[in-house]
Amino acid sequence: MFSSAVLAPLLLAGLQAAAVSAVPHIEAVGSKFFFENGTQYYIKGIAYQLTPDDPLIDEAQCKRDIVRMSELGANAIRVYHVDPTANHKACMSAFADAGIYLFVDLDTFTTQIEQTNPHWNQTQFDRFKEVLDEFQQFDNTAGVFVGNEVLTTAEGSHAAPFVLAAARDIKAYRDQKGYREIPVGYSAADIPALRPMLQNYLACSDKAADRLDFYSLNAYEWCGDSSYTTSGYDQLQKNATGYNIPIFFSETGCNQPTPRSFDDQAAIFGTEMEDTWSGSIIYEWIEETNDYGLISYGPSVAGPATNTIVEEGYTRQGTPSPVQPDFNNLKSQWAKASPTGIALSEYRKSTASIKAVECPASTSGGWAVDPKAPLPTIGEAYNGQTATETGSSGSSGSSGSQTATRSSATTTENGASPMIGVTNPATERLLAASLALSSIFGVIALWL
Ligand SMILES: *[C@@H]1O[C@H](CO)[C@@H](O)[C@H](O)[C@H]1NC(C)=O
Ligand SMILES: *[C@@H]1O[C@H](CO)[C@@H](O)[C@H](O)[C@H]1NC(C)=O
Ligand SMILES: *[C@@H]1O[C@H](CO)[C@@H](O)[C@H](O)[C@H]1NC(C)=O
Repeated sequence: MFSSAVLAPLLLAGLQAAAVSAVPHIEAVGSKFFFENGTQYYIKGIAYQLTPDDPLIDEAQCKRDIVRMSELGANAIRVYHVDPTANHKACMSAFADAGIYLFVDLDTFTTQIEQTNPHWNQTQFDRFKEVLDEFQQFDNTAGVFVGNEVLTTAEGSHAAPFVLAAARDIKAYRDQKGYREIPVGYSAADIPALRPMLQNYLACSDKAADRLDFYSLNAYEWCGDSSYTTSGYDQLQKNATGYNIPIFFSETGCNQPTPRSFDDQAAIFGTEMEDTWSGSIIYEWIEETNDYGLISYGPSVAGPATNTIVEEGYTRQGTPSPVQPDFNNLKSQWAKASPTGIALSEYRKSTASIKAVECPASTSGGWAVDPKAPLPTIGEAYNGQTATETGSSGSSGSSGSQTATRSSATTTENGASPMIGVTNPATERLLAASLALSSIFGVIALWL
């Protein structure tokens, strides 16, 4: 006979197991994402970063936001900055309960790979590992980014090998730790001069260990009353056809002119693109200065912040109210978008024939990466010459001092389209936050 003394802990264990909700994992196979059960996964995501700090700690706030995200039809969020030492269980499990997956950036303000004097070193790697260590435990972690918009100019191509080196190392670490194969990718700024070279370079190795698991693009090309051809999406599609790893929009949602129609969603999830693209993440959840918000936590606040959840005049916590008609426009676009994709069992029959895309050749005055050059090793920094020489000379250890010079030259701010030619809100946020961070460091330095 079982005594209740024996049963109680068993019951308790059972209840705890039930509380940690089990959602099917997402895996990347060939050029597509799949749920474990073999159904193809298309991302309907939202960029979720309420302040520069980790938004996955405050359970009550997560839950208030999830209600509205579910109403919208979202099945993913993207978070740019997290604190790996914080406790994410409550938020992650609430998102899992709503069928919402996480794409999370491994880098943050102090660890991101830089375009200027790029390097990839042990400090960065260790911090990336901490984020992976924390988030690999959650069933609804769908993917991680090794960088966001590292390359932002035509001359920035020499940073690409460092992005790829980070992906190589984090994938090796993931496998060595016995974690599940959480897809490792990169989120690119939409720089015409780098297209399609960057996209192809990061996927072109014959060895899976030396390429990304997915590639994604922050693109604000489809604005207002546009079309598949007028927007340029047909060209994006053309250059992604036959791509060997999943590709999706890691930011989209042009906000000029208003209101936002999100018409591009019909193309992304429609017959033109559904066989190539795995969906999109809309920039962004919270309404703030850049005016990309889907929801607002209240009227903007004039004057200096009176408490910590008001920053730059916007309340960043509370009950979300939809920004209309944008919120409903997106909701109805997503309601209409229901690509079925292909069943994994069927798709597997063709995956053996998938070939890596061709590596882009190095061209003078253009893409400056020798496709045959070995990837940088940990501790290596760009030596200011061609990537070929960087690759072979292995100037390790020279990276430390170069980082102080982050390119604040590009910090033209004021919200308006900065150096990239297309509005690039995430970069703006990053620059603003890094400015804030450097002023904090400045204060600390003075104090010391
Ligand atoms: C597989 O799981 C997803 C997510 O839970 C669900 O939407 C889909 O219907 C499932 N597919 C099958 C064939 O059960
Ligand atoms: C597509 O690729 C070609 C080169 O293969 C390039 O010239 C063109 O700019 C690319 N278009 C887009 C939209 O990326
Ligand atoms: C690595 O680079 C970072 C800046 O990105 C720097 O703060 C750190 O000291 C460097 N670490 C090593 C081991 O060189």
